[in-house]
Amino acid sequence: VTLQPEVQTLWPGLLFDGRTGLSYGLSPAVVERWLGGEAPGPLVLSRAAALGMMGGIDILACRVLPNPDALLLPARPALLLPHPFEQGPGGHARHLWPLSPAGLALWRAPGPTLRDRARQARRTEAEALSFAARAVGAGVQAWRLLPPGLRVPFRLVTPPRPAAPRPAGMLSAEGETQLGEWHRTLAHGEGHFDEVETTLAWSFGLPHPALGGQTYGARLAGALSERGLLPSRRRRPSGTMGSLQIVEIGPGSGEVARALLDHLGPDWGGRYTRVEGSPGLRAVQRALLPETDELAALVPPLDLPDASVDLLLANEVIADLSSAPWAPGEGGPVAEWVGRFGLHVHPGRAWYNTGSFALLLEIGRVLRPGGAAVLTEFGDEEGAPEEAAHLDHAEVGICWAHLATLARALGLEATLCPVAELLRMDLGAPWLRRGHWASLRALAHLHGQSLPARAWTLRSLPTPPEPVEGLAEVTLRERGAGPDVGRFSALILRRSALNR
Ligand SMILES: C[S@@+](CC[C@H](N)C(=O)[O-])C[C@H]1O[C@@H](n2cnc3c(N)ncnc32)[C@H](O)[C@@H]1O
Repeated sequence: VTLQPEVQTLWPGLLFDGRTGLSYGLSPAVVERWLGGEAPGPLVLSRAAALGMMGGIDILACRVLPNPDALLLPARPALLLPHPFEQGPGGHARHLWPLSPAGLALWRAPGPTLRDRARQARRTEAEALSFAARAVGAGVQAWRLLPPGLRVPFRLVTPPRPAAPRPAGMLSAEGETQLGEWHRTLAHGEGHFDEVETTLAWSFGLPHPALGGQTYGARLAGALSERGLLPSRRRRPSGTMGSLQIVEIGPGSGEVARALLDHLGPDWGGRYTRVEGSPGLRAVQRALLPETDELAALVPPLDLPDASVDLLLANEVIADLSSAPWAPGEGGPVAEWVGRFGLHVHPGRAWYNTGSFALLLEIGRVLRPGGAAVLTEFGDEEGAPEEAAHLDHAEVGICWAHLATLARALGLEATLCPVAELLRMDLGAPWLRRGHWASLRALAHLHGQSLPARAWTLRSLPTPPEPVEGLAEVTLRERGAGPDVGRFSALILRRSALNR
């Protein structure tokens, strides 16, 4: 068994073919045996042969598969690419790969195979082979060359993404997440949702085709009105809503609150109270929402009187509340929540949303008869919550079935709905491909500028600071210029008008 000399182990368990850029994952034991001269078994051999790692392929007859995340900067000329091995918790760093005139011509040339491209670009086969050898290199990965008959999607060959470190104090001695201090010391609100954490609401805070040309906030106001949770300016009999109390926990940038208040109109006569734990965000909210009341506090508890709230909103907040790891058989607070409310138990050691459980008790207490609460967040209907390991703070997704069970035990009606359905988002609408959006942000930084973290489309995108070729859109079902829409749900809770 002879491997091509260009096939190298990039790291244990991964063979990389330096002629084609194709890779093949193997268990470390198989790699060791193979490199030690032992035959690795017929299945592995036939796969390696199919990938051409054992020789016998005509490189010029290979199909060229360009990296779909690569963008061409023709003025330099250079390719702007994710760097395969420079990866932080937030994703891949970008690098510029300068192109020679031959490289530029070969990159732009049409044609499925390397030989076709050479012809179209009027370059010799030797030039094409020399460019390809560098373009498929492990540290570049601008191209991959597919031997005839092989069809594989382009995936970067890269070590796993590291998790963001967790500063001391963000996890209690028992491993429970606690973000109180992180929020209390968050002094700079401006830019927070562009640079630190981008919410779905912020991402869709500008008019978007997926929302029929509306913003997230305007669409949410409409959806809440249709469900009878928010009075509509048009349908409201005058003078009937004077005592309406709306409470929003964690309004962030304030954009959603602004949209709800604009929907209600200037003379709605009720009170809108913001409950916010971060001083930097309170300052931003005060500027945008001068007509609102402010409660500077971390929830839970909720420092509001019993039965005093008509509508409570927490948009993408509850993943910030504490979650605790727990395994069946252990004692402690999670065991008490599980036992008290009959919550289903996840297999093994898993996260439980203890902070949200405590907040629900408070919501049950403060909602008026006929009142409602809307909680949106990322999470899973029944499965164990996951931690968003790429953020600089420990956010844990929600197990919605636990919250619904608990709410029902408190006498509330609970309905779970995907946010995309609540807002009637068109998931077939376009937005920029995630990799291109990340590259454009890096390009803006190169020019000393910044590109806000909005759900840009090719039409809405601000003009890049230099010409860019190759920008592409995908649908909202795919990874684009913002959080993955499909991961977000809304839990709608109602207290019956008859029930106290
Ligand atoms: C992820 S942001 C969401 C902001 C906004 N609602 C949106 O959807 O864009 C979370 C917000 O909740 C606030 N927050 C987080 N934990 C909180 C707590 N325990 N008490 C009060 N506010 C909190 C944050 O400061 C921030 O305003």
